[in-house]
Amino acid sequence: MSQDPNQDKDKLWGGRFSEPTDAFVEKFTASVTFDQRMALQDIAGSRVHARMLTKVGVLSQQDCDDIQRGLNEVEAEISSGQFEWSVGLEDVHMNIEAALTAKIGDAGKRLHTGRSRNDQVATDIRLYLREQIDLIVVEIRRLQSGLLDLAEREFDTIMPGFTHLQVAQPITFGHHMMAWFEMMQRDASRMQDCQQRMNQLPLGAAALAGTSYPIDREFSAQQLGFDQPTRNSLDSVSDRDFAIEFCSASAILMTHLSRCSEELVIWSSAQFDFIALPDRFCTGSSIMPQKKNPDVPELVRGKVGRVNGHLVSLLTLMKSQPLAYNKDNQEDKEPLFDTIDTVRGSLRAFADMMPAVTCKKDNMFKAAKQGFSTATDLADYLVRKGLPFRDAHEVVGKAVALGVATAKDLSEMTLTELQQFSQMISEDVFEVLTLEGSVAARNHIGGTAPDEVKKAVINGRLLIKD
Ligand code: ARG
Repeated sequence: MSQDPNQDKDKLWGGRFSEPTDAFVEKFTASVTFDQRMALQDIAGSRVHARMLTKVGVLSQQDCDDIQRGLNEVEAEISSGQFEWSVGLEDVHMNIEAALTAKIGDAGKRLHTGRSRNDQVATDIRLYLREQIDLIVVEIRRLQSGLLDLAEREFDTIMPGFTHLQVAQPITFGHHMMAWFEMMQRDASRMQDCQQRMNQLPLGAAALAGTSYPIDREFSAQQLGFDQPTRNSLDSVSDRDFAIEFCSASAILMTHLSRCSEELVIWSSAQFDFIALPDRFCTGSSIMPQKKNPDVPELVRGKVGRVNGHLVSLLTLMKSQPLAYNKDNQEDKEPLFDTIDTVRGSLRAFADMMPAVTCKKDNMFKAAKQGFSTATDLADYLVRKGLPFRDAHEVVGKAVALGVATAKDLSEMTLTELQQFSQMISEDVFEVLTLEGSVAARNHIGGTAPDEVKKAVINGRLLIKD
């Protein structure tokens, strides 16, 4: 980052100023250290802007050709890391414009005709975020595909299902993975919704009121892949609701990942011992040689904090801002960029890790047998024999009390033992008291039966095939 002491006289807006910017203020107000991320989008926007100005007769074809050539050179320097960013030039927009002008002279100075950094930055962020959402959706799909494979592999693996973190009813591990799949499905759809709503071109709004040049916004929108130009210039340059919306969708996504993380942490603990996480996703302890810590899920769980924080930052940033553009909005980028990085990193870690998770089926099965997980099945059985559900609930409650007193599961009691609670119970009761019978009976759409899991996997593959 170079800082030329004489640079003030070269400031692109320096005309009306009589003294140089305070050195600290220059750094304090600059955004180039972080907004240079949008350099390629800024160049793409400038190329189209120049073409549009040429089309409507504001720029000559020669100027346009020079601008395109100059931008090619600037782009090559940026991509190869040779570009010299200058804090004195404040932001990505003015750094690129100054470099262009240094290369091609007056044509570079004409590029900013009919445009302002206000509509320029609003365009750049949209272009950047639009691409990033595509990449995020690709990662979500990769994770979902791993979950589908896992669900297929473990479609009939029985584990305890929990409510209140207490054994509730037996479920299949495949079914559990498909629950995660569904969360991710909605997350992807929220991302796509947000992307679709933000896909309007602000360029042409200029500083706030539009411009007196005969611009063709439809042309620019179409060239940059936007559905249409924005409809109101004041709104175009001032609102960052699309960034808030993205951070909100991200906060929900990260909340989902934190729930998945928490389960992985619990399941891989010595107390549960349901799964093994691959060694390459864990780390050891520097003091306790026996430890294998589930760092990746823990870290993802922890990273929700910063994403939630960024959402609140952006909401607070926008709150009470009068129309139109205010410098406050420069503060949108760091929270937005860090949200993008965090979401992409967390998804990547999960998508890489999940296919390598292995189930300890015996431990899961044993755990599902504890805690009277088929008690509801016994109640349902009695209902089928004609007892009202509330009475059946009462009968089974008493049977469970005996089980607690004698340390026996319902399936381990004799027929005579069970019959003391209801004469409606006969030999066929044992079919529903087994874990296999219990899961197989829940064979409707959305149920945990192995056959339903298989169907859900087939359906899931279709859902993510876009
Ligand atoms: N760096 C600024 C931002 O990120 C660009 C727009 C500046 N516009 C202005 N009038 N100061 O918001």
